[in-house]
Amino acid sequence: MADRKATLQIDGQSIELPVLSPTAGKDVVDVRTLGKHGYFTFDPGFLATGSCESAITYIDGENGVLLHRGYPIGELATKADYLEVCYMLLHGEAPTEKQYHEFKNTITKHTMVHQGIHNFFNGFRRDAHPMAMLCAVTGALSSFYHDDLEIHDENQRLRSAYRLIAKIPTIAAMAYKFSIGQPFVYPRNDLGYAENFLNMMFSVPAEDYKISPAVARAMDRIFTLHADHEQNASTSTVRLAGSSGANPYACIAAGVASLWGPAHGGANEACLRMLAEIGSVENIPKYIEKAKDKDDPFRLMGFGHRVYKNTDPRATVMRESCHEVLKELDRDDPLLDVAMELERIALEDDYFIEKKLFPNVDFYSGIVLKAIGIPTNMFTVIFALSRTVGWVSHWHEMMGEENQKIGRPRQLYTGYTKREFSPIKK
Ligand code: CMC
Repeated sequence: MADRKATLQIDGQSIELPVLSPTAGKDVVDVRTLGKHGYFTFDPGFLATGSCESAITYIDGENGVLLHRGYPIGELATKADYLEVCYMLLHGEAPTEKQYHEFKNTITKHTMVHQGIHNFFNGFRRDAHPMAMLCAVTGALSSFYHDDLEIHDENQRLRSAYRLIAKIPTIAAMAYKFSIGQPFVYPRNDLGYAENFLNMMFSVPAEDYKISPAVARAMDRIFTLHADHEQNASTSTVRLAGSSGANPYACIAAGVASLWGPAHGGANEACLRMLAEIGSVENIPKYIEKAKDKDDPFRLMGFGHRVYKNTDPRATVMRESCHEVLKELDRDDPLLDVAMELERIALEDDYFIEKKLFPNVDFYSGIVLKAIGIPTNMFTVIFALSRTVGWVSHWHEMMGEENQKIGRPRQLYTGYTKREFSPIKK
């Protein structure tokens, strides 16, 4: 793979390191042998570190490109449905019609959770955050499948993946129903993936719930736009947890925990709360100044991205979707006025231009979710639901590798060197 070498000169020592070329993107310097020469690399926050090989998703941050298995996200969001995208992420190729129907049937038949899962919810406080419930109950799933957890058996791995893709929406909807004191709604096999989720969220035994096709389409698109995103914090968390041989349910629960933070999946919830706090267009300049003030920890939620430095291609689709949904549902949301004006001002402001900060996917997804009736504290849960396929695809890819190693970074130690301990009485 590598004929090219990089030479590192340190204190008169010359170390040759292979340079590897990916199928797309930046070349990488393979530093794996550096430890033998007495050095480690230092890169907190992984600003320039490739942690693995992967053939699933490609991002070109400078040019705003996102490809899943080679297909641009814009095309997938408009021409494929979420389950098609799930299939290609997991299996490597887009499904044929037959494969698609078999896959859909398999996922549909796995949507019900063991009745014992219902009992877990009674242990939570009524006001528990649904992410707390999702994280705990996802981890608990492993206790129901202990005879099907052989991580080196590809079929067992795929069965776990199907269960996770199928059951996380059920658990997510249960977390919501529990929080509002309504009975859990069982999954329905006659409905599509997004429709079934909406039905479990919003139907009640006392009356018929009509699923709007526009809402189901918007939901499916949100799932697609969040399906995978290369080696982000939560996916890297899933890989690191999985590298020790942990079971897939435990690994995905770790991913849910990592996603929860406001710098990652929690941004959509934080963004909507921020828009509500800004309240009206006149208040925007005050918040722009706060975001620019170095002494103020406030940041514009839904702005900026570690990798995209030009445009977030997911945000481009989501922005269109946002306008379409509000028009189709005939919802006139004052928060949208605040969002659009905030976007306009920030995009013209030197601070945001210089730092290459522009709206990311979460800036618009919160508005769409609000329009379709999803409560704010469920936003990150929906991100987790959508991303489950990405997490489990990366875990499956990693576990299928030969010589897969436990993830074990090193450090730049800054503590005390060895010193003598005095017993407490002295
Ligand atoms: N508002 C104001 N200033 C910002 C913002 C923001 N949203 N984001 C970054 N900056 C500034 C930051 O203060 C820093 O300035 P300086 O160089 O003067 O110290 C500079 O821009 C670089 O920021 P950074 O924190 O070093 O950049 P990062 O790559 O480590 O962080 C980020 C990326 C997404 C965590 C960050 O932009 C942020 O906190 N954004 C708001 C939260 C958000 O919307 N997150 C969702 C990301 S998209 C969904 C997902 O994939 O998870």
